[in-house]
Amino acid sequence: MYVPAKVKLVEVGPRDGLQNEPQPVATAVKIGLIDRLAAAGLRFIEVGSFVSKRWVPQMADTAAVLSGIARKPDARYAVLTPNRQGFAEARVSGADEVSVFAAASESFSQRNINCGIDVSLDRLSEVCTAAAAAGVPVRGYVSCALGCPYEGKVPAARVADVASRLYRIGCYEISLGDTIGVGTPSQARAMVEAVAAVVPIDRLAVHFHDTYGQALANLVAVLDLGVAVVDSAVAGLGGCPYAKGATGNVATEDVLYMLDGLGVETGVAMAPLLEAGTYICQALGREPASRVARALAARESASRAEGASQP
Ligand code: HMG
Ligand code: MG
Repeated sequence: MYVPAKVKLVEVGPRDGLQNEPQPVATAVKIGLIDRLAAAGLRFIEVGSFVSKRWVPQMADTAAVLSGIARKPDARYAVLTPNRQGFAEARVSGADEVSVFAAASESFSQRNINCGIDVSLDRLSEVCTAAAAAGVPVRGYVSCALGCPYEGKVPAARVADVASRLYRIGCYEISLGDTIGVGTPSQARAMVEAVAAVVPIDRLAVHFHDTYGQALANLVAVLDLGVAVVDSAVAGLGGCPYAKGATGNVATEDVLYMLDGLGVETGVAMAPLLEAGTYICQALGREPASRVARALAARESASRAEGASQP
């Protein structure tokens, strides 16, 4: 099995993780989370979205989040933007880079952004043109890369087509999203192989949701192909408002534990990452979805109890 020497981790918890939370999350809590993630060594953090506040109210305070964080000079703070209006807000707010998103499924595109794939790519092309003029890097997502909540199976050729169009309009990296977390390793591999035939593999990232518990297995399958950029969310937060029933992204703690075990360098440290996860889970009033976070917390409390019982 091949694994890359280094993997770039893209932390999407503050955006993909929190966008679907039913209760408002205080701006100060989002800022506290992002600063803790940066302190753990994460250098690519998606902090929010400039999308319609009516469609996704949880992200309405993204400008305030960006102005409140303590920026690390070597970290990049990105925001999701669906159109030129979002890009203009991203510029004013000082985001380091923007992410644009298209779907490999027409139905998902309609529900998520109220237009079809071709129209969405025209809008994203305008964002890329404006971003190139302003010197802002653009990352592109392809949603529904392994299945659609409305259409079911999505052919890999369709994913490859949308990915290559995003690449051609100027996205420096294309993140392939299993939005509803249904894929299995051989499907993930076949999809990445199809995309890698039209976009260089070193420009590809994977973005696996863990709904069916397949995310780590899928990751191993595509690391073996040479993918070296992985999206994840601390504590396994998240879900997409337009993909009902889909659970969070693969947890950053779980990905880190696996990559550490494989000897892959990430620049991220487990202890402060766990603290970031504990911080946001306490604020949300729930346990982390990360298996690693739960296992390490149990080990820690067992060793504390043992220490306390020593004479
Ligand atoms: P629309 O209603 O078709 O847009 O929505 P419109 O151009 O007709 O404008 C309607 C209103 O929205 C106007 O306001 C605009 O100003 C406003 P009004 O006049 O009614 O007061 N508007 C905006 N406001 C703020 N920021 C903007 C913006 N654009 C228009 N950028 C739109 C189209 C795309 C805006 C809408 O459908 C939308 O915001 N959708 C939300 C999409 C979203 O955030 N989805 C979740 C993220 S995607 C995801 O999670 C998947 C991913 O993680 C990958 C994976 O998992 O696979 C990325
Ligand atoms: Mg997602």
